[in-house]
Amino acid sequence: MCGIVGYIGTKNATDVLIDGLRKLEYRGYDSAGIAVVDSGKIAVRKAKGRLDDLEACMQKTGVPKGNCGIGHTRWATHGEPSDVNSHPHSCKRVTLVHNGIIENYIQLKEELVNDGYVFLSETDTETVAVMLEKLYKGDSIKAIDELCKKMRGSYALGIIFSDRPEEIYAIRKDSPLIVGLCEDESFIASDIPAVLKYTNRYYLIEENEIAVLNKSGVCVVDREGKKIEKSVFEAKWDIEAAEKGGYPHFMIKEINEEPKALKNTISPHIENGMPVIPVSELGDERLAALNKIHIVACGTAMHAGLIGKSAIEELARIPVEVSIASEFRYVNPIINKDDLVIIISQSGETADTLAALRLAKKSGAYTLAVVNVVGSSIAREADGAWFTWAGPEIAVASTKAFSVQCAIMYMLALRLSFAKGTLSEDEVKEKTAELMSIPDVVEKVIEQIDPACRELACQNFSTTDLFFIGRGMDYSLSVEGSLKLKEISYIHSEAYAAGELKHGTISLVTDGVPVVAIATQKPLFEKMISNIKEVKARGAMVTLVCRETAEVSNDVYDNIVKMPEISDLFMPLLLAAFIQLFAYYTSVERGCDVDKPRNLAKSVTVE
Ligand code: M6R
Repeated sequence: MCGIVGYIGTKNATDVLIDGLRKLEYRGYDSAGIAVVDSGKIAVRKAKGRLDDLEACMQKTGVPKGNCGIGHTRWATHGEPSDVNSHPHSCKRVTLVHNGIIENYIQLKEELVNDGYVFLSETDTETVAVMLEKLYKGDSIKAIDELCKKMRGSYALGIIFSDRPEEIYAIRKDSPLIVGLCEDESFIASDIPAVLKYTNRYYLIEENEIAVLNKSGVCVVDREGKKIEKSVFEAKWDIEAAEKGGYPHFMIKEINEEPKALKNTISPHIENGMPVIPVSELGDERLAALNKIHIVACGTAMHAGLIGKSAIEELARIPVEVSIASEFRYVNPIINKDDLVIIISQSGETADTLAALRLAKKSGAYTLAVVNVVGSSIAREADGAWFTWAGPEIAVASTKAFSVQCAIMYMLALRLSFAKGTLSEDEVKEKTAELMSIPDVVEKVIEQIDPACRELACQNFSTTDLFFIGRGMDYSLSVEGSLKLKEISYIHSEAYAAGELKHGTISLVTDGVPVVAIATQKPLFEKMISNIKEVKARGAMVTLVCRETAEVSNDVYDNIVKMPEISDLFMPLLLAAFIQLFAYYTSVERGCDVDKPRNLAKSVTVE
């Protein structure tokens, strides 16, 4: 989604803004722009395309020079990607950048057109700039307050008034925005990596707060202009964590970080060999009384929820319903106040997931957020938060965040089974010990299967369709594998529960169609082999992913990828590496933009 950066200080603002926007490229965008106060005047430069296109445009039209400015990467919602629709948008004294969607912009625009204002773009954002110009009578805070009263929707805004050239204003509602704090300079940004090079100290701006940045620092006021004392947050991420560190893409770097991320996520929550939930309200007594759990999330995070469902139902025998957040919101879900609602999100800002959380809270049920970003909206609004310590995940395709989300699902399932008495303390300790050993196994697996995944990618990169099949947890991994392949390689792919194929889909399996069959769950192995034979008999090119000890004759597969012996329960953590590496190398072979796939954004902050 859109990215915002703002800077005021002693450095060349254009350089800081472009550099910051580069750090936000992972959010996905299709045009970019900056506005810099140059010799007392606001110079705006914007261009459709990548930041390189903006820089090329500035080479022709002149690079603005100054120490105060705002910048933006736009992910088109209202109006096509074009120079004129790019941000910043200006109207007379007001220039601003915006992340989010103004839902009532048509009514606001009608009002402004009736007043005689003229619009240049198709965007909702230009309406905000024009409305602010109309409302601004010299008192900036009052004008912003009135603007907020008029707007409906979500927004993070960075604003410069031409008659206040040494100030940046920032406000937000349902779209992320931080203020970076430094000695002689201050920043605004949609996300921490944009400012990490300069500072790891920041304020989180809340709804109804207005941040005012000038050369002497940052003042945060309420909508009436009254000063608010803010707590300073410190990001634990260092700059290297948000850089590629010698890898060609963030995605492959992040896959290789999985062992470390798993260790960081698991170790702090094991005490005396038992998993401990870091939320005091979820003690054993409360867990024992649970009759139902809801897991709500989007995309890959939802797939981690599927692993959670299998683990919790198998070990603790508590029914779990997994819902896609954008569906959950509109089906009037039945939530009992004694249920537990788990919200999973890497970014903690996904609009539908956040809205689902708010809906769940109204039911009175306890809401637990499983989130990677401390201070994110979901982390703050849920009743309790359990953080995944994956570090920053920059590639749009979620990899290490998925693994650590699964790890938390396992720890939760184990603690629940102890609380419910479905497993003895010794049994829980034994499984917990195995979970703690998994990060090292993942490390070896990544190294071992890397060549096979490259080879598979070479064989399959020109295909137009590819099927994943599996049963049980292998099916959940198939669904995630299919999503990963689609999103970064643009190959059409479907995931099927292997037993379901002959109810329709097998008609699509003809000579040479690639099928990735995941068959690691011991009790389901023979059934999987029968299903594989069914597709093989119709000419499929089968890649079998199974245990290294599996006995299988070589006429049922064309390629085989072997996983080391661990229990069925934790196999998804090894399979994650396979599906991710396969998708990664296929995307590379096809020459796709691996980290920034077309039409996609890292943090989906619009519904
Ligand atoms: O930040 P979140 O975990 O809430 O994001 C949810 C999905 O948008 C995300 O997992 C998406 O499906 C990924 N691009 C998949 O790789």
